[in-house]
Amino acid sequence: MTDTLVSAAAEARGRAFAPHSGFRVGAALLAEDGTVFTGCNVESASYGLTICAERVAIVKGVSEGHRRFTRVAVVADTARLTPPCGACRQLLWEFAPEATVILANLNGDTAEYAMRELLPHGFDAGSLVG
Ligand code: THU
Repeated sequence: MTDTLVSAAAEARGRAFAPHSGFRVGAALLAEDGTVFTGCNVESASYGLTICAERVAIVKGVSEGHRRFTRVAVVADTARLTPPCGACRQLLWEFAPEATVILANLNGDTAEYAMRELLPHGFDAGSLVG
């Protein structure tokens, strides 16, 4: 499944719209029922509106009725593997707290982390009710 997700993320990376940074990212998310959702970063000329590949994949999955994800792959063309940014970690925490996060590059290097390693003491719905 890791290979499938990394391939899906690499393919999604090919659809990245990153004319401003030139930094192309792809993500693939595995839903609990086995459905895979992909995303790429989509940049805006109003730079702050840019959305990362991971959050595109999450909103695609959630908007299709999926609420829990168990694995996510993130692919970029960097020697130092690209981890999810802080905003993406927050959303991943809310929809994929038990997930394994697989980072990969185009050379076949990979690393795996537990989501809770990437965002310890995360804020979520439970935090709102004390
Ligand atoms: N980016 C992602 O898509 N995911 C990340 O986790 C890190 C950053 C994108 C956002 C922007 O389009 C470009 O990479 C440079 O920050």
